[in-house]
Amino acid sequence: MTMKIAVLPGDGIGPEIIAQALRVLDVLKKEGMPMEFTEAPLGGQAYDQYGAPYPEFTQKICREADAVLLGAVGGPQYDTLDRPLRPERGLLAIRKDLGLFANLRPAVLYPELANASTLKPEVVAGLDIMIVRELTGDVYFGQPRGMRTNEKGEREGFNTMVYSESEVRRIAHVAFGIAMKRNKKLCSVDKANVLETTEFWKEIVIDVAKEYPEVELSHMYVDNAAMQLIRNPKQFDVMVTGNIFGDILSDEASMLTGSIGMLASASLNETKKGLYEPSHGSAPDIAGKNLANPIATILSAAMMLRYTFDNEAAATRIENAVKKVLAAGYRTGDIYEAGMNRVSCSEMGDQIVAAM
Ligand code: IPM
Ligand code: MG
Repeated sequence: MTMKIAVLPGDGIGPEIIAQALRVLDVLKKEGMPMEFTEAPLGGQAYDQYGAPYPEFTQKICREADAVLLGAVGGPQYDTLDRPLRPERGLLAIRKDLGLFANLRPAVLYPELANASTLKPEVVAGLDIMIVRELTGDVYFGQPRGMRTNEKGEREGFNTMVYSESEVRRIAHVAFGIAMKRNKKLCSVDKANVLETTEFWKEIVIDVAKEYPEVELSHMYVDNAAMQLIRNPKQFDVMVTGNIFGDILSDEASMLTGSIGMLASASLNETKKGLYEPSHGSAPDIAGKNLANPIATILSAAMMLRYTFDNEAAATRIENAVKKVLAAGYRTGDIYEAGMNRVSCSEMGDQIVAAM
């Protein structure tokens, strides 16, 4: 059956990094893997063409696809648009529309890049954490929200932090499932000492844990988790948390690995449909200069093969090609160290294609 992949290059460096990921996938396609790519705009690119960050044209293509490969969205020229028209809203809308509630953000340190981390090599060497972030609930989507004038006549902004039982249960099952395939250690991150929403989260996670007696479950407050990630990150294997805490902790974890330019992500729904995107943003400052690191996007394509298409062999092949190129000393600017071979975005693509 043909694998239907929607390709959303997006803004900033999005088109450049997507181009390299497509070259890598094309190697597999030429060898006979039946893939069909359909391009559509998202974010600022979509606003420019259709006047909306997630237009109907894109919705249709994404709903019909098995998987979505996304570059990045956002740019300074869109920051002054009305809030519903901003690129980030396109990203939130596609997550909600496709029901992509499970966001997997691996933070893996490649041994070759141990010096790229700002932490001491011994603290991060061998690091391999999987952050499971709930992606369609929490204060990101809770109603009511907005800005208003209160009864004292003062302006205020407000959002609602809310999780339903079914939302917590399904993300907990995903996290326990992943823990079962790894080292059977799961840390659930909350702020149960202050916030009822997350006290409730913790209660449900403990209940789901009864179905996974082999998994060692621990709980940590989010402020402590932020500290422990820097102090001793290797104590973690799988972490599960809500949308806002996961947003913050996954950026933090990414930096343990030296560069956010290395980190892939998958956002899955209940039927294995997924959106795959680098964890980094659109980097408008280097857009169009062929300087971006395409590895996070290429590794996202590998995650797509693994999670949506169940093709572990093809996923591993891409990951091994990336490792080989790093071991051979090729580095984009974000991970460059003296003595290495500095390459552009497309040259990094050349090397990975060759290593395939
Ligand atoms: C992310 C980003 C998004 C988020 C923004 C761009 C809406 O930071 O994917 O982590 O907050 O989820
Ligand atoms: Mg973020």
